[in-house]
Amino acid sequence: MKKRVLVTYNMLRPGYSELEEKYDVTFPPEGRESFTYDEVLAMIGEYDALQSMFNFKVDEPLMQAGRRLKIISNYAVGFDNIDVEAATRLKIQVTNTPHQVTEPTADQALGLLLAVSRRISEMDRRLRIPGNVHVGLLENLGHSLYGKTVGIVGMGRIGQALARRCLACGMKIAYNNRRRLDTDTEARYGARYLPLDELLSLSDVVSVNAPLTPETYHIIGRREFALMKRGAILINTARGPLVDDKALVEALQSGRIGGAGLDVFENGDYPADELLYFDNVVLNPHLGTQTVEARNEMAKQVSDNIINFFEGGPVYKVNDIGR
Ligand code: GLV
Repeated sequence: MKKRVLVTYNMLRPGYSELEEKYDVTFPPEGRESFTYDEVLAMIGEYDALQSMFNFKVDEPLMQAGRRLKIISNYAVGFDNIDVEAATRLKIQVTNTPHQVTEPTADQALGLLLAVSRRISEMDRRLRIPGNVHVGLLENLGHSLYGKTVGIVGMGRIGQALARRCLACGMKIAYNNRRRLDTDTEARYGARYLPLDELLSLSDVVSVNAPLTPETYHIIGRREFALMKRGAILINTARGPLVDDKALVEALQSGRIGGAGLDVFENGDYPADELLYFDNVVLNPHLGTQTVEARNEMAKQVSDNIINFFEGGPVYKVNDIGR
C-alpha cells in the first residue's frame, strides 16, 4: 500500500510532483488555504507523514494521535512550531528546509534595512498624499549605511548571507552567536565576534537572525534596548518573540532607537497597534521566504525529505531518533 502524506497548507504544486507520483498525498480541499489543527488531529491517525507549515502547531497530542506517523517534514528552517522533544521520544523524525530560505530572507533583511535607513516606505506613503512632502536639500534625511557597523545576532546561514550583503554596502560586521565561527569564516566577512552587550553598544544596526528557542526568547528586551546606541536600527526577520515588542515600542517612543524593520511580530501575524504609528518603522507580513522561487524550492525540499526518509536517502534532520 502507498504511504500516506498529509500536507497542512495548499501550496504551489510543482515542488510536490514526485511526492504525488510516489505516495497518496492529501492537500486541503480546493478553495481552502489550510487544514485546521482539529482537522489534522482527526485525520492524522491514517497518515505516515505530516508536512507541516511553520505556523502550524505540532504538539504531543497530535503526534500521539498519529499512530502511524514516522516523519514530520516542516516547511521552514525554523521548527519552533513543533515539540521536537516529544517527537524524539515518540521516535518521529523531524526535518526542515535549511538552505532554500537563506538568500530570500537575507534579501528581506537588507530590504528592510534600506527602507528604514533611507525612509523609503515612509516617503512613498507620504508622496501619495498631495502636499504632504516638502522637498528640500535638508528635508527627508536618512542615514547612509557605508562605514556603519551591523551587529548580527545569530550568525548562521541567514546571518552570514546578510553579512555578505552588508559588506557590499560598505558596512562593518560584528556578530554574536552561540558558537564562535572558525577563523576562516570570520575572515571571509571581516567579522568581529562580540559578547551580546558589547555588540549592542557599538552597532548602528542590530539584526536578529537566530532561531526561536527558550534561550533566544526576548533576546532583545528593555535591558538590551538601553544598551543600544542612540539612533540604532533594529531589524527582525527571524521570529517575533525574539524581541519584546512592549520594550521596542518604549525604545521607539523615547527615541532610544532610530527605527525598526520588522518582518515578524511578537504576537502572531499582525503587528501590535502601537507599532502602526511610527514613521520610522517598516512593517512586513513575514515576507522572508515569500518568493515564488523559495516557495517552489521549499516544496521540493519538504517532499525530498519525506521521500528520502522512506527510501533511505539524505534528509535534513532536526532530531536524532537513532536511525
Ligand atoms: C520561515 O520563517 C522559516 O523558518 O523558514
